[in-house]
Amino acid sequence: MGPRIWVCSLVISIPVLIIAAQTNNQDYVALQSLQAIWQNTPPNWVGPDPCGAGWDGIRCNNSRVTSITLASMNLTGQLSGDIQELAELQILDLSYNKGLTGSLPSSIGKLKKLARLIVVGCGFSGLIPDTIGSLQQLLSLSLNSNNFIGGIPPSIGSLINLYWLDIADNKLSGTIPVSDGNTPGLDMLVHTKHFHFGQNHLSGEIPPRLFNSNMTLIHVLFESNNLIGNIPSTIGLVQTLEVLRLDRNALSGTVPRNLNSLSLLKELYLSNNKLTGALPNLTGLNSLNYMDLSNNSFNASAVPSWSYGTRTTSRTSSSWPLQPPSLADRVSCFSISGDPNNYIADYAQSVGYKKELILVGNPICQETGQSQTENYCVIPEPSNYSSYSTPPNNCLPTTSGSNQLSSPNCKCAYPYTGTLTFRAPSFFDLRNLSIYASLQSSMMVFFQSHQLPVDSVSLSNPTKNSDDYVILDVRIFPSGLNRFNQSRISGIGFVLSNQTFKPPSGFGPSVFHGDGYGNFAGTHKSTSTGVIIGAAVGGSVLVILVLLAGVYAFRQKRRADKQNNPFVLYLSSILEPRQNSGGVPQLKGARFFSFEELKRCTNNFSETNDLGSGGYGKVYKGTLPSGQLVAIKRAQHGSMQGGLEFKTEIELLSRVHHKNVVSLVGFCFEQVEQMLVYEYIPNGTLKESLSGASDDFLTFTSYEY
Ligand SMILES: *[C@@H]1O[C@H](CO)[C@@H](O)[C@H](O)[C@H]1NC(C)=O
Ligand SMILES: *[C@@H]1O[C@H](CO)[C@@H](O)[C@H](O)[C@H]1NC(C)=O
Ligand SMILES: *[C@@H]1O[C@H](CO)[C@@H](O)[C@H](O)[C@H]1NC(C)=O
Ligand SMILES: *[C@@H]1O[C@H](CO)[C@@H](O)[C@H](O)[C@H]1NC(C)=O
Ligand SMILES: *[C@@H]1O[C@H](CO)[C@@H](O)[C@H](O)[C@H]1NC(C)=O
Ligand SMILES: *[C@@H]1O[C@H](CO)[C@@H](O)[C@H](O)[C@H]1NC(C)=O
Ligand SMILES: *[C@@H]1O[C@H](CO)[C@@H](O)[C@H](O)[C@H]1NC(C)=O
Ligand SMILES: *[C@@H]1O[C@H](CO)[C@@H](O)[C@H](O)[C@H]1NC(C)=O
Ligand SMILES: *[C@@H]1O[C@H](CO)[C@@H](O)[C@H](O)[C@H]1NC(C)=O
Ligand SMILES: *[C@@H]1O[C@H](CO)[C@@H](O)[C@H](O)[C@H]1NC(C)=O
Repeated sequence: MGPRIWVCSLVISIPVLIIAAQTNNQDYVALQSLQAIWQNTPPNWVGPDPCGAGWDGIRCNNSRVTSITLASMNLTGQLSGDIQELAELQILDLSYNKGLTGSLPSSIGKLKKLARLIVVGCGFSGLIPDTIGSLQQLLSLSLNSNNFIGGIPPSIGSLINLYWLDIADNKLSGTIPVSDGNTPGLDMLVHTKHFHFGQNHLSGEIPPRLFNSNMTLIHVLFESNNLIGNIPSTIGLVQTLEVLRLDRNALSGTVPRNLNSLSLLKELYLSNNKLTGALPNLTGLNSLNYMDLSNNSFNASAVPSWSYGTRTTSRTSSSWPLQPPSLADRVSCFSISGDPNNYIADYAQSVGYKKELILVGNPICQETGQSQTENYCVIPEPSNYSSYSTPPNNCLPTTSGSNQLSSPNCKCAYPYTGTLTFRAPSFFDLRNLSIYASLQSSMMVFFQSHQLPVDSVSLSNPTKNSDDYVILDVRIFPSGLNRFNQSRISGIGFVLSNQTFKPPSGFGPSVFHGDGYGNFAGTHKSTSTGVIIGAAVGGSVLVILVLLAGVYAFRQKRRADKQNNPFVLYLSSILEPRQNSGGVPQLKGARFFSFEELKRCTNNFSETNDLGSGGYGKVYKGTLPSGQLVAIKRAQHGSMQGGLEFKTEIELLSRVHHKNVVSLVGFCFEQVEQMLVYEYIPNGTLKESLSGASDDFLTFTSYEY
């Protein structure tokens, strides 16, 4: 017990620090709870005052936390249901943390002020909670590129303010929900501009009710699902529509006539379906830029009269993408294939396209003669453009060591990397280098005008994937220092995940996928191991000293008049039990387990689950319903602590979060049981810790001050 006594007597005078917090206590405890189950939170997440101390990724207003932006932090763990305590939260951006798993807690519906919920490219799974429909202030909901399953919750239809809805690239199934008088549906989203539902397993017909004339959608992306049936003619009512992707489904029937009324439509993808009938009259599509009708079963017929005349000139304008193409040039690509008849040959001959028509795989390209050498019979060789990389800016690239790269301005640095995916670009020829120059300069202008310390942006390896998305590698180089810090990465990650940065219009809808940034200063420093108490501080010795001192003071003075003791006040407020589940005290930061739950997950505390024992009682191995392995410390009846001590220990442990300390998952405090549930550490570490600290298993607090 020697070292512990030493620590405590050293710090008794510290607690004065606790008083002047600018952070609302409920918010502080909620952040602690998030931190307790996340790895890799920013290193300055220490101390009791997130707002005052300016924790990276946290913004506050009047002592309340209003924004959490932690893109690309390499966070791992689950999203604690305690997030609901952050009652004033407006922005939650956890994008590009692939290690964030588990489901979105349904308590997220309690965040009544939430305007942006952005979790692009994380590892979340399970159902999208129905409670998401309670977020009445929500403007953008970006759940794309996770592993969500199940249906689209109809409650999303109640989000009347929603502007952005992106649920693409998940495993969502079922039909697209529409309202029926009793239940809400997506047809009610009349302020939403973006329906990005591609790359899921959505099935059934596209309900005709989904579209109506009150809607203001500009992008409808349903590609790569399992949708069947007809294209509903109601789509023609959405006059604002600019991009429509229904390709890569199993849609059948004819293309509805009134699609022709979409005069703002720029990109139309209907390829890879089972559409039949004659090609529709599409002369009304005055803004059309790109159209792909390939791989359908359109009726073999004469070339539709509307296709003559307007497209016989090749493009001359050099203003792309800043100005729309001229009328005479408005269909820059017309890709039809798979229909073995003269139609294609006639078509190709009549329109005289030189660059952007691809008819590979059609009879015309197999005939001998002149047509074989036409551009429309040659697919651009991928290796030709995929080797593109932003060239150096009139300087000699430097040779950079240890993962650093030479920026376009020839400085060595650790860039923030990721990919930009364009889901419906209007350009077609990826060999055209002015595309990349235009994108690169728009990004630089954006970063500069947002005071983000970016030296330069490098784009490389453009490719088109099997979904017809154009994907580019992006490197964003820091200015000044050779690396970004946590607050900069979360800031740049946010402007990209939030779509604050918009590429020039010819690029169409896009999505950025950031990599985890592995080059923060000090990330690779080794921490001293072995001495648990020295390391067990979740980032700072101070926290734990303060806590220990606080507990010490609390214990010494708990009979004293609470009103006169700031520590006692502070501690008692964080330890205030929430009276629920039958009067069982439940502390924030650690999950409550019922006795029954723990009994189940340890096989009724069976001997085979027994990991060891000590003076306090026994430790069992258990498996939670989520599959997580845990070690459960069950106090022997004789060795139970007082309720207050037990709570204090839980509170302490739930604050500690470090790789050298087994972290607390939860506890049980019921009837005559006291149990602590820890994450399970395999390979005998647990037993070693056990024998090393037999009396107070795995905890660094002692009850014997
Ligand atoms: C901070 O909150 C107050 C109300 O509590 C509000 O009037 C003010 O606009 C908020 N400031 C910011 C920057 O959001
Ligand atoms: C469109 O909005 C108007 C007024 O809000 C409403 O009366 C009408 O029923 C709506 N139409 C549709 C098709 O929802
Ligand atoms: C054509 O579309 C079907 C689905 O409708 C798909 O299975 C097939 O691979 C596509 N063929 C080509 C050549 O893209
Ligand atoms: C296909 O075209 C032929 C001749 O143009 C016509 O007789 C036939 O009805 C068409 N079939 C469909 C399904 O439109
Ligand atoms: C095609 O539709 C336009 C209206 O957008 C109409 O003026 C034209 O006559 C139609 N052409 C044919 C061949 O049906
Ligand atoms: C390349 O793209 C630019 C717009 O960025 C356009 O003006 C130019 O005509 C294109 N060049 C070719 C050869 O297609
Ligand atoms: C790139 O394409 C050109 C023709 O456009 C061809 O001559 C050249 O060999 C190609 N290069 C590679 C690396 O494929
Ligand atoms: C992060 O870096 C920026 C400059 O790039 C600097 O202004 C800021 O103070 C740094 N933040 C921290 C917490 O070090
Ligand atoms: C998020 O993006 C929207 C546009 O998509 C923009 O209006 C808003 O200001 C952005 N939010 C922040 C906090 O930058
Ligand atoms: C992310 O964190 C894990 C450990 O939690 C580490 O192994 C990995 O290297 C980190 N990745 C980056 C990019 O920092």
